[in-house]
This record gives sequence, structure tokens and C-alpha cells, in this order.
Amino acid sequence: MSTVLSDIAAQPAPSSSVRAFIGKKPRLLINGEWVEARSGKTLAVFDPATGSEIARVAEAGVEDVDRAVAAARAAFESGPWPEMLPAAREALLWRLADLIEQHAAEFAEIESLDNGKTRFMASIVDVPGARNYFRYMAGWATKIEGTTMQTSIGGVPGAKFHTYVAREPVGVVAQIVPWNFPLAMAAWKLAPALAVGCTCILKPAEQTPLSALRLGELIREAGIPPGVVNILTGLGETTGAALVAHPGIDKIAFTGSTEVGKLISKSAADTVKRVSLELGGKSPVIVLPDADVNGVVGGAANAIFFNSGQVCTAGSRLYVHRTIFDRVVEGLSAAAGEIRLGPGLDQATQMGPLVSKEQQERVLGYIESGRKQGAAVLTGGEAPSHPGYFVKPTIMVNVRPEMRVVREEIFGPVLVAQRFDQLDEVVKAANDSPYGLGASIWTNNLSAAHRLIPRIKAGTVWVNCHNMVDPNMPFGGFKQSGVGREHGRVAIDMYTELKSVCMLV
Ligand code: NAI
Ligand code: MG
Repeated sequence: MSTVLSDIAAQPAPSSSVRAFIGKKPRLLINGEWVEARSGKTLAVFDPATGSEIARVAEAGVEDVDRAVAAARAAFESGPWPEMLPAAREALLWRLADLIEQHAAEFAEIESLDNGKTRFMASIVDVPGARNYFRYMAGWATKIEGTTMQTSIGGVPGAKFHTYVAREPVGVVAQIVPWNFPLAMAAWKLAPALAVGCTCILKPAEQTPLSALRLGELIREAGIPPGVVNILTGLGETTGAALVAHPGIDKIAFTGSTEVGKLISKSAADTVKRVSLELGGKSPVIVLPDADVNGVVGGAANAIFFNSGQVCTAGSRLYVHRTIFDRVVEGLSAAAGEIRLGPGLDQATQMGPLVSKEQQERVLGYIESGRKQGAAVLTGGEAPSHPGYFVKPTIMVNVRPEMRVVREEIFGPVLVAQRFDQLDEVVKAANDSPYGLGASIWTNNLSAAHRLIPRIKAGTVWVNCHNMVDPNMPFGGFKQSGVGREHGRVAIDMYTELKSVCMLV
């Protein structure tokens, strides 16, 4: 069944409130004020479902980065934020979460228009996810603690020491986020930093800056003081790189490609900034012979096709035991063929376009490279003829471990399926990757699951599910999937410095 032009519905018009918002003048949030970029430069924002320009945003230059860093520094050193009672910071973060909730429908629409995902998905995943994240992290503001310790410091006869460790906010943080979950990624970055008393400069991805700007309006409305959150729209190579190199920043938190993560690590090393990185993945989905085929088909389809496959933990490598391989793959092909592609604001759409022309071309290029290296496309494998950035859900078989489609992150709706016979063989194949972000195991054999879990090199292992995340569950990668963990107590640790105090008493 091939999709032709008429199969993709027209993008419905956005609501008048969203039209008014995206029609606003291009501005940056610096020191609590909406200001133009000093250079006056702007960038276009496109609707991925149509390929047409829908808005313009400011392109922050080096002078704007300097202004934002100065504002964040002042808010940290002499402003109210780190000095504020933790309970007051908590209350402000709750107020922001309540405002996100009040504007949930609008956020879902903005996110859909900007990223291409369906409004429905944005309304059940991205927007409540962001709201819940601020609420969860708000609670940490009042729960930061240190420790006292016994010491055995000798050489001072009769001396006694009172020794303790305190946690202090790390300072001014720059947070560079990607385009796949723009609002949720902004929340993952801002919430823990703000909870502990850091001040922030957020740089959304150039492809999807709109929800961060709307969030900026609510940050002001919530009463978070000027300079505590600054929002700079702009390009990675200029605005992003200037933030990473800036001596006035204490920490960089980044989510995006492994390639840029490496550049950031190197650049940040010059000023020894703290760096946390959430990078790419090529997460295996491992199906043992006893697994329920229907359950696996639904689960594996979601693992790869959720968010059009633009998920760092997407289950992009499928390994199925030989005895059920054909049934699983046939089921998946049928499921993929039934997914209705369309624009995000259309209620009938099940899968939206990719975020950008560049991403569409990258994904189609990977499919082509797979074909050239001898892989077979079972279903999908092309873009419908339509100006939007669509790619049909794609399943490839006859793949070999050395192919680019098996080794590299595609970040699109493309699954590569392979068979295995022995557990040792699938462990080796699953770990044969520079990445180690996520993995899922599908089985009802408890003993087999427990034996596999410790052997899989990944920051998260799901059993009979995939892509489940929670603010209380550490998230991050082994190997080249990143450095550090987000969520939970460990995120608080990431935004704080330890100070050891040793007092002669
Ligand atoms: P990217 O890594 O270039 O962009 C992510 C963010 O980093 C954006 O805000 C961008 O402006 C910024 N950035 C880019 N270059 C920078 C630099 N030199 N210094 C500082 N900041 C910089 O990702 P891109 O090019 O949009 O996508 C390429 C591939 O990256 C995707 O195909 C996918 O494989 C991977 N990716 C992974 C993500 C994840 O969640 N792990 C998210 C987005 C992309
Ligand atoms: Mg890039």
C-alpha cells in the first residue's frame, strides 16, 4: 500500500491564541525582559507538516550571550535566587507548573506545529511530562541535605574537629536542548537547576524554539525573578558554541547528538566547566522465545515509531529469537503499514512528519545506505510525495552487524530486525555498539530476564515495556550515550557542588 499525495491530510489552522503567539516579534528573554538580538538577526521556523515558514525568532549573537550570562551571574551572586528560602523557590516552581497546566492545550498545539508530532501525543506526553517534572523537582528544593562525618585527623594533640559536607548550587548553568521533546527537555534541564538555586540560560534547538519562548512568558508570569532564567534562541554552532566557551558559565547541560556532545566536552575543558551529556542511542529490543507475539508486536512498534522514531532511547535494533522471528516481523510490518501519517493538528493522524527537511534527508539517506549494503525493506522505505517532512514507517531485514543502519543512530521511524539463537549471541550483538542508552527485554521467563539485565550495557533496561521514563528514575547513558544522569536525587547532585567544612573546635 503506497501513500500518495492525497493520503496526507491538510494541516488544520492553528487556534487564534497560538497564531497570535507565533506572530509576536522575535525576542530573547534576558534579565526578565523580552529584547531583540543586538544584531537584529532572525531565524525562520517551519511547520514540518507543510514545509512552510510559520514564525521568526531572534538569533542570539555573542553580545546577547554576554548579556544573558551577566544577568544570570548577577541573579546568582547578588540576586534573590540562591538566597531565597527553599520553600519559596518550591512555591514558584509549583506556580510555573500550574501555569503550564492552565495553558496545556496551547502548549500541545505549539509543540505539534513546531516539531510535527501530533497534538494528541504532545497533550498526553510532552506537556503533562513537563508540568510533572517541575512539580517533582520543586519538592527537592526543600530536601537538600549534607552530612557530618567523623575524622581521624592526627598530629594536633587534643584537637577536635567538627566536619561536615554542605551542598551548594553549582552557579550559572547553560542548558542546550534538542528538538525531539522541546518543552519536556527544557523542563528536565531547568527544573532541577532552579530547585537547588542555580540560574540558567536555556538554548532551545533552532528547529523548535517556540514552546521555550512561551515557557519564558510563563516564567515571568509566575514571578520567578529577572535573570534567573534567560532564554536565547539561536543556532548551535554560534549561540550554543558561544555559551559553551563562555568563562562566566559554571556548568553545561546538553542533550543532543554524540557528535556535538564530544565538541562540547572538548570546548568546556578549557574552562573546566561541569558537563553533563545525554547523547545518542541505538537501543536494542530483545525478544526471547517464550514472549507473547502480539504483545511484542505492539510494544516493539511503539518502541520505534513513537515520536516518529525521534527518541534517543528508540528501540531501533530488534533481535528476535529465531523460533518467532517471522511472526513478529510480519506483525510489525502489518502494524507499520496501518499507521496513518499526517499533520500533527489533524485528529486522525497517528504519526507526524520528522522535524526538518535535514532530518528527513538524513533518514532517507540511511534507508538508501541500507539498501545499497544489501538490506531488504519489508515495509515503508520512502517519503510520500508531499511537501512536509514525512517518512513512512520502515522495517528492514537481511541486515548485518557492520551495516550503517545497524551501527548508527538514524533518529527516524526505521527499524532493523535480526534473528538470534543463543542468549550469549544476543548479549554480544546488543552490546556491539558505541552507545548504551536503553534496552528492552521481552519475556515472561523471570530467571532469563534477571540473568540478562546485568549483562546489557545500558543506562536503562526495560522488561516487557520500552521508553518508560519517570522523574524519579535516573536517566542517562553508558559509553558514548552520555555522561551523568538526569532525574531523581542524582539530578540534584549534578547541579550542586560539595563543600567540605573542617572546623577546629
Ligand atoms: P545537534 O546535537 O546538532 O543539536 C542539539 C542541540 O545542540 C541544538 O540545540 C543545537 O542548536 C545545539 N548545538 C549544535 N551544535 C552545537 C555546538 N557546536 N555547540 C553547542 N551547541 C550546539 O543535533 P541535530 O544536528 O539537530 O541532529 C543530528 C542527530 O543528532 C540526529 O539525527 C540524532 O541522531 C541526534 N540527536 C539526538 C538527540 C537525543 O535526544 N539524544 C536529540 C537530537 C538529535
Ligand atoms: Mg547538528
